[in-house]
Amino acid sequence: MYIGIDAGASATKTVVINKEGEIVSYSIVPSGINFKVSSEKALGKALKISDLSLKDILYTVSTGYGRALVNAEATSSEIMCVTRGVHKLFPSVRTIIDVGGQDSKAIRIDENGRVLNFVMNDKCAAGTGRFLEVMSNILGKSINELGILHFKSSKPTKISSTCTVFAESEVISHISKGSEIEDVIAGLHEAIAERIYNMSSRIGFEKDVAFTGGVAKNQGFVDALSKKVGLTPTLPEEPQTICALGAALAAIKKHGESASHSNLRSN
Ligand SMILES: Nc1ncnc2c1ncn2[C@@H]1O[C@H](COP(=O)(O)OP(=O)(O)OP(=O)(O)O)[C@@H](O)[C@H]1O
Ligand SMILES: [Mg+2]
Repeated sequence: MYIGIDAGASATKTVVINKEGEIVSYSIVPSGINFKVSSEKALGKALKISDLSLKDILYTVSTGYGRALVNAEATSSEIMCVTRGVHKLFPSVRTIIDVGGQDSKAIRIDENGRVLNFVMNDKCAAGTGRFLEVMSNILGKSINELGILHFKSSKPTKISSTCTVFAESEVISHISKGSEIEDVIAGLHEAIAERIYNMSSRIGFEKDVAFTGGVAKNQGFVDALSKKVGLTPTLPEEPQTICALGAALAAIKKHGESASHSNLRSN
């Protein structure tokens, strides 16, 4: 078995694949403050689901914000891993928009799955999952509820602040003036979609366009961003694990390379 561990700023994801590159199991756990602990927890959980043990693992690649702190044979960048994961599942995708807990990225790739260009926002919470987490707290609604309430809105409230802290005060003001909570939520999804659209526009939206990362599990956000981009996106069944899948696929490749190096040395 080959393992990919994506130690993200919010969540640590593990994907187990066999040598054919087929997904055997996966797990998602909160990252907390210690990536070593969260990665061991995620790995243990994924192995348990598939009734495997550490001795079944041939090679592990880690990626994500905390990748250097994870016990693995090699590391790989998130851009490479998201690309590899998407290209394996959806070879027709040419643009990827990944929205995680602490950053967002847009990646353009070619028909061979090679990265042509990318842009990233990791400097500001607006345009990341953190923005919606802050808003879900002040609205007293769970992250899951945001995606459901979005579709009950008939007139999304315009949120004009581009900063998370200022948008928070704006939301409180809208609610206190009597705006419907679902309209504020739909407005927040439009605001985050607008930021990500503006960032991604710098590299363009060649079809097909895939959405990945945990925030792609929020149907309200997916609706708002799809409308902005003007097309129906490719959505993986579990968008949050795509980067870890890419890391697991990198593990197959790196294991093959290390085996051929040692063969060369012994010949
Ligand atoms: N079911 C869900 N519905 C909506 N949002 C979700 C859901 N599950 C997770 N999220 C959001 O997804 C984000 C985490 O996504 P992800 O795991 O891709 O981020 P990460 O890889 O940890 O962060 P980063 O890539 O920024 O380092 C969080 O903001 C979380 O609130
Ligand atoms: Mg991530």
